[in-house]
Amino acid sequence: MSRVLITGGAGFIGSQLSEKRLQAGDDVVVLDNFNDFYDPSLKERNIESLVGQDGFSLIRGDIRDNSALETAFERAPFDFLVHLAAMPGVRPSVQKPDLYYDVNCTGTVRLFDWVAKASPGCKVIFGSSSSVYGDQCPTPFKEEMTGDCPISPYAASKRAGELQAYVHHRIYGLNVCCLRFFTVYGPRQRPEMAIHKFTRQINEGEEVVVYGDGTAIRDFTYITDILDGIERAMENASGFQIFNLGESRTISILETIDLIAKSLGKKARVRHDPPCEGDVPITFADLTLARKELGYNPKVDVAAGVDAFVRWFLEQGAGGNGALP
Ligand SMILES: NC(=O)c1ccc[n+]([C@@H]2O[C@H](COP(=O)([O-])OP(=O)(O)OC[C@H]3O[C@@H](n4cnc5c(N)ncnc54)[C@H](O)[C@@H]3O)[C@@H](O)[C@H]2O)c1
Repeated sequence: MSRVLITGGAGFIGSQLSEKRLQAGDDVVVLDNFNDFYDPSLKERNIESLVGQDGFSLIRGDIRDNSALETAFERAPFDFLVHLAAMPGVRPSVQKPDLYYDVNCTGTVRLFDWVAKASPGCKVIFGSSSSVYGDQCPTPFKEEMTGDCPISPYAASKRAGELQAYVHHRIYGLNVCCLRFFTVYGPRQRPEMAIHKFTRQINEGEEVVVYGDGTAIRDFTYITDILDGIERAMENASGFQIFNLGESRTISILETIDLIAKSLGKKARVRHDPPCEGDVPITFADLTLARKELGYNPKVDVAAGVDAFVRWFLEQGAGGNGALP
């Protein structure tokens, strides 16, 4: 049994990790500020079945706020900190670069300072992003590509988080494993993300808005594979590490829309709008390192994953409870 602090534990990925760790017998402390980046009632719903369970505690607070961090670290020592709290999303970061810097950089440094002082020995997993590779790296992306060509404030803030993790490793002795997630999807996916948004638009007979010509390529990763990768990283974290967590197969945006339409049994009406600042033409993970060091081996291909997502989406409309199928 371990004690785990999960920041952002009410969100899409964090709530499902919290659930899994609690089921495995861990004590789980969630620190989340329930911000309104998307409807906070969805986050309440994500964790409603956890609240009140033995071994689970929830702190409603901000990673930038020392008093919230003090409350969290009163429960130290932790065996693991899984740091998932962030302002997510490439496109909205272009409108609010200072907010993304504040939460993702200042908040992250503050959290790393607290964990180094108040829970030395705690292993840290940092939720980074494939966006750090920007639009200059050859594909498939390998971890040693420094990723120093980000093209959005979000990407820059995630790369800064990795660099800060390295500094906290070198100077303050933290063990940190940075995981570069490649577009995660599945039940509870954030509503503004492509697969969720396209599904809603097609289901409701709305136009599906595609930015650019739809040939952009994505490496979509199903939530259960990401959770497996995070847990493997927890088992293997030592020193300073960076791993890609992707699916390592790619699909274009237009092909993704076709898969969703097929799963829904409906037709998609696509409208093309101009490309968005910050969007990269391709994401594609090289998984050699994660396979070798973590034994990571994603199992859900995008056709099966989209089908499972669509089933979950339709159950939500019918009053489903948000549990993983
Ligand atoms: N979902 C993806 O495809 C993806 C891809 C790459 C990286 N990531 C990273 O994974 C992490 C989780 O992403 P997600 O998709 O679950 O997003 P999410 O928005 O569903 O979850 C993030 C959670 O963090 C909380 N939060 C935000 N700012 C906070 C703050 N200042 N203090 C405390 N809590 C705060 C939010 O309320 C939310 O519940 C993020 O760090 C994100 O950048 C996600």
